[in-house]
Amino acid sequence: MKETDTISWWQEGVIYQIYPRSFMDSNGDGIGDLNGILTKLDYLVDLGVDAIWLSPIYPSPDVDFGYDVSDYLSIDPKFGNLQDFDQLISEAHSRGIHVILDLVLNHTSDRHPWFKEALSSRDNPYHDWYIWKDASPDHRPPNNWQSIFGGSAWEYVPKLGQYYYHMFYKEQPDVNWRNPQVRRAMLDVIRFWLERGVDGFRLDVFNVYFKHADFPDNPPALGLRGFDRQKHMYDINQPELLPLLAEIRQIVDQYPQRYLVGETFLSTAEHAAKYCSTKLLHAAFNFEFLHCPWNPARFLNSIQRWETALQRENGWPNYVLNNHDTPRSATRYVKGEKDERLKVLATLLLTLRGTPFIYYGEEIGMRNISLKRSEILDPVGKRFWPFFKGRDICRSPMQWDGSLYAGFSEKTPWLPVHPNHVWRNVEAQRADPDSLFNFYRALIRLRRELPALRRGLFQPLTFDPVSLLAYLRVLPGQTLLIALNFSRKPRRLMLGRELTKKPWKLVLTSHKQQHPLVGKDYLSLQGYEAVILLQD
Ligand code: GLC
Repeated sequence: MKETDTISWWQEGVIYQIYPRSFMDSNGDGIGDLNGILTKLDYLVDLGVDAIWLSPIYPSPDVDFGYDVSDYLSIDPKFGNLQDFDQLISEAHSRGIHVILDLVLNHTSDRHPWFKEALSSRDNPYHDWYIWKDASPDHRPPNNWQSIFGGSAWEYVPKLGQYYYHMFYKEQPDVNWRNPQVRRAMLDVIRFWLERGVDGFRLDVFNVYFKHADFPDNPPALGLRGFDRQKHMYDINQPELLPLLAEIRQIVDQYPQRYLVGETFLSTAEHAAKYCSTKLLHAAFNFEFLHCPWNPARFLNSIQRWETALQRENGWPNYVLNNHDTPRSATRYVKGEKDERLKVLATLLLTLRGTPFIYYGEEIGMRNISLKRSEILDPVGKRFWPFFKGRDICRSPMQWDGSLYAGFSEKTPWLPVHPNHVWRNVEAQRADPDSLFNFYRALIRLRRELPALRRGLFQPLTFDPVSLLAYLRVLPGQTLLIALNFSRKPRRLMLGRELTKKPWKLVLTSHKQQHPLVGKDYLSLQGYEAVILLQD
């Protein structure tokens, strides 16, 4: 079989998101750190991932746990220092693992020196680095724009008689990307980290960088909360963004094999696809899987929309079941502690055409933690309790072993460990051939071995949209059939004459017990079984 060389590591590879606070604590302060990650690189090699994306590691007062940056060019002491970072990069690279940093360039922390200067007076040279509007005589906010975290997006500063704009917490003022000095400073941040050897960036909420220059009110929409009761016409997705992305891409392209993936805020597949091209971002997240109910037709619909949307620019899909902002898939799709549904999902994630992202702990089926109101740290959770309990629930310490703090730390961790860590942990799952961990590992290994899994065309076989999802991955000389049973009952997938001309060989099943799988013209699946078959 002929393999082309034009495909990049980020297209073929599996990317693993690390939330550094929660991955591994090396210095016993209850917070994960870079040296902790370093000690777990061999674990990541064993799992088989090709890259790690680190949620922000820059100095931050942690109102939004790292997504409020107070210095873009260094490392928060709780995570280590630049030498630790250099060591992590070089050790990761020596193991063939790429490193992607999270860049939060839409806003800074309100403690960033730029904002402190900006606050000091209207005449300060940094004042225009942020977005300000004079207060009207009746002291109403300048327009109806809302913060996604609740309330008006405008914060009044009495000393200046002005409001500043913040899409997120008021401690995260949005920078003014229309100011050429801001633009230059931010592009220098990108260069700084490229020079230090990072392999790419995840651009936090990149499509919020520009707001409409005239700040018109957003039109109304149907929704529950203030933010959702508006169509976000003027506060996101402005046309000025495209030339900026092109400029960022040009910078990144000066370094070989680097990667830019954008977090498309309020994304749909179509939105995200607009930003992917050889001149813009390599990829943008489509988060539809995070909201799919347990229904194969809905998953298929989402895959097809994404494939179609990306076709125009020949873009490359990516798939995400989890991240640091969303309840964990293991809790979304499973009541209790069984992992059979999670194996179905893992098979889906790792056999689609596109880059799979795994969120730390997903590979061992970590569940959300439950927190009392007094334990909530995420401000958005405090504000909207009990309707929305915030995002701490999916950020609990990685469960390495069954010891008191799950092998994550020797001291009380910053968030509680899940009580199920006593038996749901890496150590136990590594030892169990039927564990979810070993299933993820086997799937990732298969992706490496079978080019059709990485590069093959995606061809759906829509036989039973309620309980079955089946598709082919096709390369000349190698065809794979992936069949996923979303039902707890056994199911048959009729194959038809075309598909049974050549024999199928089973390469992976999520079920321990082998059974007569392929009949004359059908495939039989046990409840919640996921299989991969090969024809060559
Ligand atoms: C992104 C991050 C989220 C953060 C927000 C503001 O959505 O994923 O964690 O709160 O941006 O930076």
